[in-house]
Parts: sequence; structure tokens; C-alpha cells
Amino acid sequence: MTRLTWQFLSLLPALAWGLPNDEILNRGEEHPFIHVPLAPPDAYASGEVHGLMMQMLETSIAEIEANMDTLLLNLHAITEYTPCVGGYAGTEEGNTYSCNNLDLYSFTPHADLGSKTKMGNDIWGWTHTEEDGTREFALVGQRDGTAFVEVLPTGQVSYLGRLPTQTDNSTWRDIKVIGNYAYIGSEALGHGVQVFDLTKLLDPSLAIAPQEFSLETGVAAHYGELPLGASHNIVAHEQKNIIAAVGAIPRNHSCASGLILIDVSDPTNPTTAGCAGQDGYVHDAQCLTYYGPHIEYVGTDICYAFNEDSFTIYNITDPKDTSVISTTAYYGVSYSHQGWVVDEQEQSYLLLDDELDEVYQSGWANNSHTVTYIWDIKNLEKPVLTGHYSSPVKSIDHNLYVHNGWAYESNYGSGLRIVDVSSVAQDPTGGSFKEVAFFDVHPEDDDVGGEAKFYGSWSVYPYFPSGYIVVNSIERGLFVVKYNGSA
Ligand SMILES: *[C@@H]1O[C@H](CO)[C@@H](O)[C@H](O)[C@H]1NC(C)=O
Ligand SMILES: *[C@@H]1O[C@H](CO)[C@@H](O)[C@H](O)[C@H]1NC(C)=O
Ligand SMILES: *[C@@H]1O[C@H](CO)[C@@H](O)[C@H](O)[C@H]1NC(C)=O
Ligand SMILES: *[C@@H]1O[C@H](CO)[C@@H](O)[C@H](O)[C@H]1NC(C)=O
Repeated sequence: MTRLTWQFLSLLPALAWGLPNDEILNRGEEHPFIHVPLAPPDAYASGEVHGLMMQMLETSIAEIEANMDTLLLNLHAITEYTPCVGGYAGTEEGNTYSCNNLDLYSFTPHADLGSKTKMGNDIWGWTHTEEDGTREFALVGQRDGTAFVEVLPTGQVSYLGRLPTQTDNSTWRDIKVIGNYAYIGSEALGHGVQVFDLTKLLDPSLAIAPQEFSLETGVAAHYGELPLGASHNIVAHEQKNIIAAVGAIPRNHSCASGLILIDVSDPTNPTTAGCAGQDGYVHDAQCLTYYGPHIEYVGTDICYAFNEDSFTIYNITDPKDTSVISTTAYYGVSYSHQGWVVDEQEQSYLLLDDELDEVYQSGWANNSHTVTYIWDIKNLEKPVLTGHYSSPVKSIDHNLYVHNGWAYESNYGSGLRIVDVSSVAQDPTGGSFKEVAFFDVHPEDDDVGGEAKFYGSWSVYPYFPSGYIVVNSIERGLFVVKYNGSA
């Protein structure tokens, strides 16, 4: 990975890895779609493509950091309900957001959530059921740790405390929950997986005096068996009490940066259960027990994985005897990043986001409008790319989650975009997908119709019973929004 390569790529995005211009631009709409990856296989396998992407993100964050004082001058917390009126929520310059059908309930800057680095990343949620109802908590990833907040019934938040990073600060932190425990990984070397007992957040004194939990006594456990302690993402197979740490470098380790499967049936004693390294580096995944139409696999534990240059499906039923069911490349593949099944019971369709197609204008993303890839997964051994959805605006897509027929897409510079995908079985081409709401947390690129750049919304959690949706913006903080439309 040389400096020259970075420069070459950033200057000539359409000519990445020397592909002739017309080969990139004229790939057409053929079916089956012609598969021409962005880069040669060894550039993916070596980590060069991933390294490039991480570098682009770090560069973007450094630019924001350098200009933060002027750029985000008016960035105060918004603690009042701020409805989306006439296409905007808010009134102050730099703290006003374009929107449709989503009202703002609160905005809290990272600094007010105890972060010194003031930069966010992943987010997840925890719902606690009590006799008289439920309480909702957001776990907000930041460069220097994880902030814990309660999302109150009013949509305001109460900051309760934080768990610092285990070792260094890092742009990448990822969080998932099983039961009453959060599992937190990071790209920071030596970090491992922190296990945090979320019932600690029920202590009423925290709302008055937020606490910095100690790495020694504030955690339920620490999993220290990742090869270098770093991981890119944390995946939760809730039904089986399995956590998968993925993208754990180095790539030449025995698990090849694949799925490192951790048994958390006793959260206070996480143990290595096995590995799935057959297809090398796994960037992100969704692991579920299979109930779909492929009869042979009913009851099998499946991971749908996003492996840079492919969509790969694993059988992880026996963590000590895992296997690959299929590895499929696709039209426009540039960086297979993350995805989610449309329906966790049916498991017939899946939506995938590619993180570099908009940057390099590959395939359907040739105009940099965010592309969501639609897969028919009824045959796990032969998933079929059936179409795509193209966003009305430009931006890179990051994480997406599906809930009750709507895809909640965290699309960096264009913020949270909610797409009604309930038509997928009738029309798997995506022709009937429709955006029903958005909340754009990065106003700076609105005037130019959006840009395929790395800033804005990192992730979203849409599963709270109250309907509050929490969005973590890289440079700003935590947004709590709620759908106000009539669908
Ligand atoms: C983008 O691709 C579409 C077909 O998917 C094609 O009609 C269009 O001309 C392409 N645009 C550019 C700028 O290449
Ligand atoms: C993280 O960054 C902050 C702000 O620069 C700094 O104060 C803190 O010491 C850093 N933490 C670690 C563990 O390096
Ligand atoms: C793995 O790769 C690293 C460089 O990233 C190298 O230092 C190390 O020797 C390699 N280990 C093996 C077992 O090949
Ligand atoms: C899935 O893996 C398990 C464990 O190795 C194996 O017993 C089972 O036959 C596999 N399922 C299918 C459908 O191949």
C-alpha cells in the first residue's frame, strides 16, 4: 500500500486500478449483470482496498477536526421538540437540518456526552422492560469510548455515563447487545471486546451524576483473545448467545480476519467458540437462525456476511465446524460493506450497501446517488441480485437496518433516509421502493445536492418500541428523531 497508490486513486477515481474508462462507465443494465469489480482480487485480499477506505475516512475526519471551530460554531444541544416544518428542523445556522416526515426531539453534541475527541461512530440500543412499561437506552460509540444515555419518553436524553476505550482512541468502535449486556469492539490495537452490564444504567443516581465506569471494575468481563485486540465490527447472534468479532487483523492469522465466534452464554466469561475464515476478511455480518424457504437449511445458524468483494453466506451451526454456503460477487461491486435481511423470519430478501460504489461511481452508482442492492436469498447456495434502489440524493451509504418493511439507512452526508421496501416480494427490482422520510444530519453539502464523502451519519438504531430513532453523527452528536407521517 504505497502513498503513490492513494494519490493516484484520489486524483483519478474512475480509473482505479487502471481499468479503462469505458469499461467502468458502460457496464449497462444487462441481466445477469456483468460483474467487474473495482479492484483486482489481490488488492482486496491484501487489505489494500480496505486500507484505502479507512484512509479516506481518517482524512475526512481530520479535515473536519481542523475546521471544527468555525464549521460547527453554533453547535449547541437542542433540548426542545423541534418539528420538521417546511422541510427544515431548527433555526440556527449550522444547527438546522433538512428533513421530511421526521421530527427532531433532541440533539446532543458528543462533547455533552463526555467525549473529549468529540467524534462519533456506531450506535445501538437497549430496551429494559419493567412492571410499568419499558425504558430505552442508547449506546453511543465515540472515538474515546461509549456514552450511555436514556432516551426519555419525551425524546430528550439523559446522559448517564461512559465506558472509556480499552486502549487507544480510534475512529472505529462497534457495539451490539444480547440480553442485558453490551459487547464493544474497536480497531484500537489491544482493545478486545468489552462486556458491559447494562442493568448498571438503572441506578437512579447516574442521571444526577454521570459516571465514568472503570475498565477494571466497571465491566462485566473483557474478551482478550482477538489476535491483535482490534476488530472492525461486532455481530450478535442473539438466539444462540454468540458474538462474532469480524475484521480482526492481521489477515494472515489463522482465522483470516473472518468471523471469530465467541460464546457469551455466560456474559461474565466469554469464550472462543470457533471461527469461519474460509472466505478471508469479513467486514460485517448478520447472524440468525434460519427459518427461510430453503428447506434443507431450516434450523441452521446462518451468517450473511459482507466480504469486501463478495456477499458470502456461512453455516455456523457448529462453531468448530463452520462452512461457506455461497460466495457471490455482483454488478458494481466495489466494497461489500454491510446488509440486513428484509424480514428476519422469512429470510427471502436482503438489502446490501456497498461503501465505495458511490465514491468510484461503479455500476448503478455511476451518478454517486446512494445505491441499495437487492438480493433474493431464497436459495442460500445461489443468491441472486434482483435489482437496486437509487436514492434521490448523492452520498455514500453506511449501515442499514430493516424494521417492519422499512429500511433505515444511515447514509453519511445525506443522513438518515427511510425507504419503504415492503414491495420487495412483488417487485424485487426495487422499482417500487419509495423514500418515506429523511433527516439530514450533515447540512454542509446540501447546497451542492450532496457529495459522496465520509462525514455525517455513521449509524442508526430503529428498534425502540417508542418509535424514537437514534442517529449517531460523526462530527456532531446524537440525534433523536421520530416519524410524523401518516403511513
Ligand atoms: C449510468 O448508467 C446508466 C445505466 O444504468 C446509463 O443510462 C447512464 O448513461 C450512465 N451514466 C453515465 C454518466 O455513465
Ligand atoms: C483520546 O483523545 C483525547 C482528546 O485528544 C485525549 O485527551 C485522551 O487522552 C485520548 N485517550 C487516549 C486513551 O489516548
Ligand atoms: C503476518 O503479516 C505480518 C505483516 O502484516 C507479518 O509481520 C507476520 O510475520 C505475518 N505472519 C505470518 C504468520 O505470516
Ligand atoms: C451446517 O453445519 C452443520 C455443522 O457442521 C452440519 O451438521 C449441517 O449439515 C450443515 N447444514 C447444511 C444444510 O449443510
